[in-house]
Amino acid sequence: MNTAQASQPGHVQQQPSATAPTALHPELHQAQVRLIDVGKTYESASGPVVALSHIDLTIQRGEVFGIIGRSGAGKSSLIRTLNRLEQPSSGRVLIDQVDIAGFDENRLVELRRGIGMIFQHFNLMSAKTVWQNVELPLKVAGVPRLQREAKVRELLELVGLQDKHHVYPAKLSGGQKQRVGIARALVHDPALLLCDEATSALDPETTQSILALLREINQRLGLTLVLITHEMAVIREICDRVVVLERGEIVEQGPVWQVFGDPHHEVSKTLLAPLQQNLPADLQARLRSSPPTPNSALIVALRLTGTASEEPDLAALFASLGGRVRLLHGGVERIQGHALGHLLLAVAGSPHSEAHLLERARRFAQQAEVLGYVA
Ligand SMILES: Nc1ncnc2c1ncn2[C@@H]1O[C@H](COP(=O)(O)OP(=O)(O)OP(=O)(O)O)[C@@H](O)[C@H]1O
Ligand SMILES: [Mg+2]
Repeated sequence: MNTAQASQPGHVQQQPSATAPTALHPELHQAQVRLIDVGKTYESASGPVVALSHIDLTIQRGEVFGIIGRSGAGKSSLIRTLNRLEQPSSGRVLIDQVDIAGFDENRLVELRRGIGMIFQHFNLMSAKTVWQNVELPLKVAGVPRLQREAKVRELLELVGLQDKHHVYPAKLSGGQKQRVGIARALVHDPALLLCDEATSALDPETTQSILALLREINQRLGLTLVLITHEMAVIREICDRVVVLERGEIVEQGPVWQVFGDPHHEVSKTLLAPLQQNLPADLQARLRSSPPTPNSALIVALRLTGTASEEPDLAALFASLGGRVRLLHGGVERIQGHALGHLLLAVAGSPHSEAHLLERARRFAQQAEVLGYVA
C-alpha cells in the first residue's frame, strides 16, 4: 500500500492562506486539521438551530482524536465539517493548512477522496457483493481494472475478509459489514479517517475487534483517526486526545489520560462517571446522602494522576485523615503510559470536619470527593 503521505488532502495544491495562524504558532504547521472559530447554524421549520459555536481545535497528523458529548451536543455536525458534508456557517476549516471553505465541486471530490468516513449503519449497497462494494468508489474515480483489483484484494485482506469476496451484505455479521465499510473508506489511501459511532451497533466483543483493526490501520498506515462514540471505554482504549462538546461548544479538551483522570466540567464528569466509580454493589446499596447515625463512616473517593499515583504514600494519607481509615477499593491503571490511581476509603471517627478532611486528602490526590455515608 502507498503510504498515507502520498495522498494527503491538499498535499498537491498546498497554498498557504493569507491569514494562516502558523506564523504565531509554528507547531500548527504539523496540524492536519485546524478549526478556527467554527460555527454551524441549521435553518429548521421552527427557526435556527445553533449546532456549533466558537469551535477551536487542532488535530495532529497520525493522532487518534475522540469527540464525546451528550446526544445533540453537535458531534456529528463537527465531524461533518471536516469533509464539507456540512458547510460551516462561520469560521474556518483548514486541512493541511488549506481553507476548504471555497472548494468547488471538483476540489471537494478530491478532498473527500483523501478523507475516508465510516458510519454506524455501514451504508453498504445490499445488491452488491463485498468485492463490488469496495470496488465501486474506485470505478467511479476511473481507476483501471488491474489497479482496482489489486487494491480491493489488498484491502479485503487487511480487514480480514479475503474469503468473503462474493458474499452479499445480508449474509454478513455487523462486525463484518463494518469491515467492508472500513475497506471501502480506505480505497483512496486517505490521510484522515472519520468514524461517526462506528461501533455503536456492535456487541462488545465485535467492538473490540473493530477497535483493534482501527488501531492497526492508524499505526500501519499512519492515518489520522477522528472518532465519535458514546462508549467511553472506546475512547480510553484508543484515543490520544479527546474533546468534550456540550450545546455546540467545547467544554473540555486534552490528552485522554488527563481528561479521564481528572475531568473538570460537569458534563465530562457525568459522561465518565460509569468508568470512574468503582463502588462495590453492596456498598452502593448502603450509601446514604446524609449521616444515618452519629458515628457513621464517610465514603471518600480519591483520584490520583501522574507521578503521585505511581507510589501513593498511603500511610501518610491515612494518618493525615485521622480516625479509622479502611481501604474499600483501589488500584492503579495505566492510560497512555500515565498512572491513574483511584482509592475508595471509609473514614470513621476523624477529628476533622468534612471540608477539612477533603482539604487534607487533596494534598495527596488531584481529586477528592465525599460520595456519601454508611452506618
Ligand atoms: N440537518 C439538520 N437540520 C436542523 N437541525 C439539525 C440538523 N442536523 C442536526 N441538527 C441539530 O443540531 C444539533 C446537533 O446535532 P448533531 O447531530 O450534530 O448532534 P450529535 O452530538 O451528533 O448527537 P447524537 O449523539 O444524537 O448523534 C441538534 O440539536 C440537532 O437537532
Ligand atoms: Mg451524531
